[in-house]
Amino acid sequence: MEVRQSSLEDLGLEKMNKSFWKGKVVLVSGYEGFLGSHLTKKLISFGAKVIGVDIKAFRKETIINKVDYRNIKVVKGDVADERLLAGIFKRNRISFVFHLAAEAIVNRSLQDPARTFSSNIQGTWNLLECCRKSSSVKAIVVASSDKAYGEHKKLPYQENFPLRGLHPYDVSKSCADLIVQAYFNTFQLPAAITRCGNIFGPGDFNLSRIVPETIISIINNKPLIIRSDGQYIRDYVYIDDIINGYILLAENLQKGKLSGEAFNFSVGKPLTVIEIVELIYKIAAQKPCYKVLGKARHEIRRQYLSSDKARKVLRWQPQVTLESALKKTIDWYREYSES
Ligand SMILES: NC(=O)c1ccc[n+]([C@@H]2O[C@H](COP(=O)([O-])OP(=O)(O)OC[C@H]3O[C@@H](n4cnc5c(N)ncnc54)[C@H](O)[C@@H]3O)[C@@H](O)[C@H]2O)c1
Repeated sequence: MEVRQSSLEDLGLEKMNKSFWKGKVVLVSGYEGFLGSHLTKKLISFGAKVIGVDIKAFRKETIINKVDYRNIKVVKGDVADERLLAGIFKRNRISFVFHLAAEAIVNRSLQDPARTFSSNIQGTWNLLECCRKSSSVKAIVVASSDKAYGEHKKLPYQENFPLRGLHPYDVSKSCADLIVQAYFNTFQLPAAITRCGNIFGPGDFNLSRIVPETIISIINNKPLIIRSDGQYIRDYVYIDDIINGYILLAENLQKGKLSGEAFNFSVGKPLTVIEIVELIYKIAAQKPCYKVLGKARHEIRRQYLSSDKARKVLRWQPQVTLESALKKTIDWYREYSES
């Protein structure tokens, strides 16, 4: 499954190429979510023809604006709906697919595991089935997650570590990830996988995530409640760097060399929850004000990724420092809360 690192390094893959996307027909599932909205806006700015499918289309809480909507063919619906997806592929000659639609919040997946499995696992095989039957699809990038690995003692996690999630969200991502690999191994589908840690930045309306939650507490002048004991270790990576990684991967994937490959994207500076929280307070020029509950359940204590493969093979690297990325993010939420 894993292509030898050195043979991939020799490919001399190129950097992101804006003109490449002009006129390309691109399906983005989950296009109204955090990653999906940033990716969609970027693809539109490159001149791609985006078809967006999302169960919650035309929502208030998204950075997709009226002008963007004029450039997106919107399909409101569930990726677990086989007929809906088949219809989209029948009506459109799709060349590229970014599959981001998922239940992406760990706590919600604990409340409704069945819906999580339906969206995250069935949604993935439905989409891959459509791609398998299509004669036009050249590249498929599927969002997996650091959670797909489950828990490993060895750090940082590398792409060849076994996938062994234990709890609903993690298992849904391990399954979806393996399903992508099956479609490549068996049907040579040109699909690749991304695995990222905690992504943050403007436009994340999932306010229970630690970065937005801390910023919103600061804006509302309320103490932050940390559900864990604050010692859990994670990667934090800026949204623009992740979107660049997705686009770079898709461009290189269609050249035919990276099918079936998984890529970690991370900064390589893991932090505890307390460290990232304190850094946010510092950058926001506020005195830390938080309470540690120590009540998180079913979460991995120490997890962070090596992105050596993405750096060597895709020539990917984060463009923004953690501090300046947090500053941009805090500024965006402040502006948003005033609008
Ligand atoms: N944000 C992160 O830190 C992070 C880290 C690793 C992996 N990921 C993965 O990246 C992808 C995007 O995450 P995000 O942060 O943008 O989450 P998000 O919740 O903001 O976006 C997910 C989108 O998918 C849509 N969706 C959910 N179920 C659907 C269904 N059954 N059919 C159609 N649409 C559906 C939602 O309405 C939402 O717009 C997810 O697959 C997630 O697991 C995210």
